[in-house]
This record gives sequence, C-alpha cells and structure tokens, in this order.
Amino acid sequence: MTAARSRTIRNFSAGPAILPPEVFERAAEAVRELRLGGHDPAQPGSGMSILEISHRSPPYDAVTKGAEELCHAVLGIPRSHQVLFLQGGASLQFAMVPMNLRVEGKPAAYIDTGAWSTKAIAESELLGPTVVVASSKETGFDRIPAMPAADRYAGASYLHITSNNTIYGTEWSEIPDAGDVPLVVDCSSDIGARPVALERIGLGYAGAQKNLGPSGVTLVFIRKDLLARKPAGVVPKYLRYSTHAKDPSLFNTPNTFGVLVLKLMLEWLKGQGGVEAIAARNVRKAERLYACLDASALCTPIAKVGSRSLMNVSWTLGGAPEGERAALTKRFLAEAEAEGFSGLKGHRSVGGLRASIYNAFPEEGVDELVAFIREFERTA
Ligand SMILES: Cc1ncc(COP(=O)(O)O)c(C=O)c1O
Repeated sequence: MTAARSRTIRNFSAGPAILPPEVFERAAEAVRELRLGGHDPAQPGSGMSILEISHRSPPYDAVTKGAEELCHAVLGIPRSHQVLFLQGGASLQFAMVPMNLRVEGKPAAYIDTGAWSTKAIAESELLGPTVVVASSKETGFDRIPAMPAADRYAGASYLHITSNNTIYGTEWSEIPDAGDVPLVVDCSSDIGARPVALERIGLGYAGAQKNLGPSGVTLVFIRKDLLARKPAGVVPKYLRYSTHAKDPSLFNTPNTFGVLVLKLMLEWLKGQGGVEAIAARNVRKAERLYACLDASALCTPIAKVGSRSLMNVSWTLGGAPEGERAALTKRFLAEAEAEGFSGLKGHRSVGGLRASIYNAFPEEGVDELVAFIREFERTA
C-alpha cells in the first residue's frame, strides 16, 4: 500500500532531483524485499532487502547486469563501450579522466562552458598539461561556443566538453565530432534526455542524481580500447577504469541501492517509450517555459537561443529596475514556495531563478509554473 506524502510539491531541484512515483514505489518494495525476477510478485523473493543483500549474491548480480544491459538497450550506449557504476560523483571523474586518459607528451584539451567544466579544467591542471581550446567565459557562459577548428585540439590526449551546463542552462545542440581525438563528455544533467550521437563519445560520465536516480552512483561509459591506454602518470589501482571494468562495477562494495534505483529509472524510461519519446515531451516542456519567459517583460532567460537547455531553464528578473531585482526575486521565491514550487532558486554563482525539468518532471508542472510566472508578473 502506498503511504501518501504529507504535501504535494513540484520539485524543480537541479539535483538530487525529482524521480517518478513508480520508481519510489519499486525502490520501497526492494527495500522490503528484493525479488529475484524484478517486480513481479509471482517471482520468488530473495528474503532480503536490497539494503542488506551481498553485492556478490545472485540477486544483486541480476540487478547490476540488468542495469548495465538497460544502459545499452534504453540509453543507447554502444556495445563498444564498457558501462561502469562508480562512486565519488561526477566530481571524481574530473580527476579520473586526466589520470587515466592523458598520455605522455599530449595535453588534455577542454572547452570551458562554465562552473562544472571550469572545475574539470582545474583538476586536470593539477595533474598535467591542459589547454582550453574554446570558452564562453567572456559572455558570462550564456552560450555554447563554436566548436574550435580541429587543429586546436589535434595533438591532445582527449577533448572534454560538458554537454549540459546545469547552472546557466546551456546545452550543446548535438554531440560534436572530434574525429580521432577521444571526446570526453560530462553528461551529468542531460543523459537520456534526447537522442544524441553517443558513438562519438570516447568516455562519458554522469552523476546519477538528475535523470538516472539517486546521488552516490556515477555512470561511466568508456570505449573499450581506451581502457588499455597507458597514462602519463601513476594511477592508484582504485582510480583506474580498467580496475572497475575487470569484474564490472564489483571491484569493491558498490552503492547497491543506487544501482538498483538507476535500473528502475531505466525501466521507467523504457516504459515511457524510451529516449525518443521522452525527448518529445522534454521539448514540449522546455518550449512552453521559454515561450513564457521570452514573452515576459519581467523575465530574462540567461541562455541564448541556439544554446538553450532542455533540462535546466535559468532566468533573471532582468526587466525589473536594478535596485528592485533582488527583493523581487526573493518575493518570487517566497510566493513560489507557498504555492508548492520547490527548488527554483538559481545557483549561487549566477543568482536569479532556475527550473530544472528533468525527464521525470511532469508536463502539467511546467504549465503550473507558467501560470504562476504570468500571475506574478501581473501583480509585480
Ligand atoms: C554538469 C555537472 N557536472 C558535474 C556535477 C558535479 O556532480 P557531483 O555532485 O555528482 O560530483 C554536476 C552537479 O550538479 C553537474 O551538474
């Protein structure tokens, strides 16, 4: 039986983020008892909770292998790539990527599209030669810069991009083609949101806490030939991708619950019709919200047309007189909170407002926000 929540909230948080009610239900079932055949009550139970069962047991083996298979079948990760479920968040990948993929004599190349890629660059700089080959810093990261000419990164160990910039609400319109240079993509906040050319990616990583489940699991997919790379420096065993690829995602005790929820999320996504179907819904949601903001004399979207994210929509109350903007933003947030809208505060580095509308966020929630924005503007 479902225990109802005490309040109905529209959760616009950037992460950890909203998950579908069905996933909460199934996760709760597995906390009570992990079933050997998934959720079918006719299947035998393991007699144990996902929280207590060994990661070396057959029921957990079915969870991790099932999740891995769904990453290929539902997300479309090519079979040429090894799927890994790691810990340490996307932030650990900022270090693991240069540790594992930088080869002697070849710098690591990055495109800087704001806070998260800036952090990835800083980590790479700690570890060795690093070049920034394009950036949108000059315009306050309000857009995705043009893909640099191939000769800018031709001699690099890899080229790193952040496909969706959670803070500013900018997103690459497509995964670029980096030719022979392995492309590394931080796709934490748009994995599974739309069909993209995943085959162009040498290594992709995503903290799960947006489109894939709870925090504490990081999806990594790495082209198998890159597992054999000889890195420029010494890499501790735990931090080598090859270590985690050997007995996939079972080198040490994984986040068993997190992997289970990731699997449930992918089953839910499959049930929604997969990435193409969810993308159509994501486009409708984002278009409605941007249309409202563009039509508003009060709201100013941060991301420029052509670089706008489907997942994170950031804006300021730029139409208000400068001296009143901060107070008006505070009032917006207080009134929104009172209406049951949570998580609309913009990231502290840019201020303003942000609505994160990940895969699990319902269309009607966007309509409600649009109505709220219009009413707020009318009475502001
Ligand atoms: C694009 C992107 N990269 C990296 C991170 C950092 O992720 P984590 O907290 O899992 O280390 C985030 C967090 O929001 C993000 O949005």
